[in-house]
Amino acid sequence: MFTSFFFSDHFPVLGFIDKVTGLTGRLDKNFKEKDQSFKFQLTLDHIKALLMNIFVGGSDTSAATVIWSMTYLMKNPVAMGKAQKEVRLAIGNKDFVNEQDIQQLPYFKAVVKETMRLQPPVPLLVPKESTQKCSLGGYEIPAKTAVHINAWAIGRDPEAWRENPEEFKPERFIGSSIDVKGADFELIPFGDGRRICPAIHMGLANVELSLANLICAFDWEIAGWSEERRSGHGCTARSCDAQEECSMPSGYKVCTKMKEIVRHSGEHLGI
Ligand code: HEM
Repeated sequence: MFTSFFFSDHFPVLGFIDKVTGLTGRLDKNFKEKDQSFKFQLTLDHIKALLMNIFVGGSDTSAATVIWSMTYLMKNPVAMGKAQKEVRLAIGNKDFVNEQDIQQLPYFKAVVKETMRLQPPVPLLVPKESTQKCSLGGYEIPAKTAVHINAWAIGRDPEAWRENPEEFKPERFIGSSIDVKGADFELIPFGDGRRICPAIHMGLANVELSLANLICAFDWEIAGWSEERRSGHGCTARSCDAQEECSMPSGYKVCTKMKEIVRHSGEHLGI
């Protein structure tokens, strides 16, 4: 059926042809057979619940990661400068960072990993229940026990992260093979095993594309940080006079100047 040509897909007005050729009838029959192979009746409520799962699982997680990344970068102007420089050099004269560009940004990717290490958006993952008795790290876990996995604590475990685990330091990922995709147990912001987030790649693309474009097109700073303090941290970005307070949490200011002007201010960063 997948390969059949349905007129109704392309020319709805000619949909009657599918009825005449019997395609519509075969499609209905197929659906009815598939429905019977489910152990329960699939209703609209099930579909709504699944869609809700996707919306809830997919929106806040990515948004929280972008907000935390921005927070860490603004609090670490040196890291912000490095990430901006890398992104702006990679896109050259283009206006927009795309998925191909992101693949050439090792420092930027390290920023995202470091943010997810320190602030996994689902800190205790999704609660699980053991189906049978097992032993883990010397502990006996009876069947039907609720199991919570503390991804937040694992990401800061001094045994796994020997070098200042509480510090935001994207450099720790440069030259390291540790990734967020479930192969490394010390970094599991998307969970692991059979219930790992089914949308890792989409989640990462959401975060990377929005973050890269935000830091590429604008210069950002925390409201009230003085020029001296910023230059004391090694960042020489000049303050923008066209700043506008916006409704971001925690008193951030966003520089609303657009790219050309930002590029110009980028000269101060040696970009
Ligand atoms: C930065 C982005 C994201 C992060 C950090 C994230 C993280 C997670 C985590 C930790 C889990 C539970 C895994 C476990 O308990 O082992 C999960 C499950 C899930 N995620 Fe994501 N997620 C992200 C993006 C998305 C997106 C974009 C979607 C959908 C469009 C999505 C859909 C889901 C669904 C449906 C589940 C439940 C899977 C199941 O029940 O087996 N997630 N996610």
